[in-house]
Amino acid sequence: MGHIIAHHHAYLRAELPWMDRAIARLAELNGRSNTNTLTPLKRTFGFFKRELELHLRKEEEVLFPFIRRIETAARSGAGMPRFSFGSIANPIGIMEEDHEGEKRQIGSMLDLTGGYSGSPGPAAICGALFGRLQALDADMRLHVRLEDEILFPRVRLLEGEL
Ligand SMILES: [Fe+2]
Ligand SMILES: [Fe+2]
Repeated sequence: MGHIIAHHHAYLRAELPWMDRAIARLAELNGRSNTNTLTPLKRTFGFFKRELELHLRKEEEVLFPFIRRIETAARSGAGMPRFSFGSIANPIGIMEEDHEGEKRQIGSMLDLTGGYSGSPGPAAICGALFGRLQALDADMRLHVRLEDEILFPRVRLLEGEL
């Protein structure tokens, strides 16, 4: 969790506002002549950013602190802490659903940008923005895989053992 927050969450917090500004600038310059790409891209990215920022907060402020309590209980030999929501699998399931939504939104952006290669505006801005969108896509794949395939299964296992 420390690695996820320090690497992937911190990266997104720095990157999302930059991309938001770059897309807004592109839409300002070429939005009227390129409504097919820039209007939906701006809308999809805006939604993706809002949802993802909320998701990061849910993980950092709610889920990860619960997981730390389970880890502490496991280390000290205490019983499973009691949560108002029942099993830790419940909030984990909500995060997994969020991940599916994030993947769909990234897929739409991939389509809208022609696989991050289209040029719906000035080449310099498009090149920089699409290069960074591609990097974001790769980072999100790794980030979600770390949570879905390593962190969450480990927590479910740990809860089962307590
Ligand atoms: Fe995360
Ligand atoms: Fe996540």
